Amino acid sequence: MPMSREAAERRAALVERLREQGAIRTERVAAAVAAVPRHLFAPEVTLAEAYADDIVITKRGPRGEALSSVSAPWLQALMIEQAGLEPGMRCLEIGSGGYNAALMAEVVGPDGDVTSVDIDADVVARARRCLTAAGTERVRVVHCDGEDGAPELAPYDRIIVTAGAWDVPPAWRSQLAPAGRLVVPLRLRGLTRTVAFDRVGDLLVSRSHEMCGFIAMRGMGAWHDRTVPLQGEDVVVHVDHDMPVDPAALRASLGESRTERWSGVTVGPLEAFDGLQLWLATHEAGYGQLRSTRAEAARALVDPATPWAPAFVDGASLAYHALRAVAPDTGTCEFGVYAMVRPASGSPIA
Ligand SMILES: C[S@@+](CC[C@H](N)C(=O)[O-])C[C@H]1O[C@@H](n2cnc3c(N)ncnc32)[C@H](O)[C@@H]1O
Repeated sequence: MPMSREAAERRAALVERLREQGAIRTERVAAAVAAVPRHLFAPEVTLAEAYADDIVITKRGPRGEALSSVSAPWLQALMIEQAGLEPGMRCLEIGSGGYNAALMAEVVGPDGDVTSVDIDADVVARARRCLTAAGTERVRVVHCDGEDGAPELAPYDRIIVTAGAWDVPPAWRSQLAPAGRLVVPLRLRGLTRTVAFDRVGDLLVSRSHEMCGFIAMRGMGAWHDRTVPLQGEDVVVHVDHDMPVDPAALRASLGESRTERWSGVTVGPLEAFDGLQLWLATHEAGYGQLRSTRAEAARALVDPATPWAPAFVDGASLAYHALRAVAPDTGTCEFGVYAMVRPASGSPIA
């Protein structure tokens, strides 16, 4: 089969998949995904890989960490839907891979405008090359730190940030048009949610949020979180870099007897509960995430609800989200919490 025909068939299949998942919600976005040749923005991988619903890493750092990518199609479609892009809109993308900007250009059409900025000169050069190869003339790619936006071309009807940010710098809000919308993957104590914010006067009002993961912002807006190993790499807690944690005391607390509390709140097997994580992360101090593998050594120490479970750290104490089966025939489970407190460090858990 000629490559262009195979690519078109894979694109059509991708559109169907993204519709079924709910990532594509409008005909405009469906038409863009069907039209833009994703494989020309991912020449490093095979056609099948380019159209798999997956991220394509395009640059790694010295420790093998991902520095740039063409994001997964479900996430790109979802964020463009969250942004509510329409023909004629003026847009800014922060973080360039080429493909997402090409999708945006397809949706806003010839009367719209797309500028994409990236902090990395290699990424900028690569994005320009790919856009030229795909014949997408209508995207401007600029080399700069997106923390400042791109003031010379503001205001924007839409700003889509495609790197994980821990805050919203003033430039993004001020460069939005009066009724403009910002879509940004916000890092909230270890969770990342892509949030759509509308500008209402000087305020940003959130309209929707979706679960996601993203390569972290570099430059002036860079942030770091802290990984505290409790049992090698098999049990670790991730917390904000400025959270006071005593790793040795925390490790010792794992040897203490476990207190448990059950809530009476149950959850069905296919019921999503990511809202609980978001609520905990935004309401309680000391929030982090407990990550554990299925290794025997890990299972002997902790029994969290999920491989990445909400956790709270307070000096030498650790509490984390647990689940217990209450109706094994239906798969219904009850929410609870396990906690370990080192006796010397504080009072028993209430
Ligand atoms: C996930 S990739 C972008 C994906 C891309 N939008 C696409 O088409 O799928 C994240 C990009 O953000 C860039 N980036 C990180 N920090 C940045 C910053 N402060 N300003 C601009 N770009 C930044 C990285 O260099 C990387 O290329």
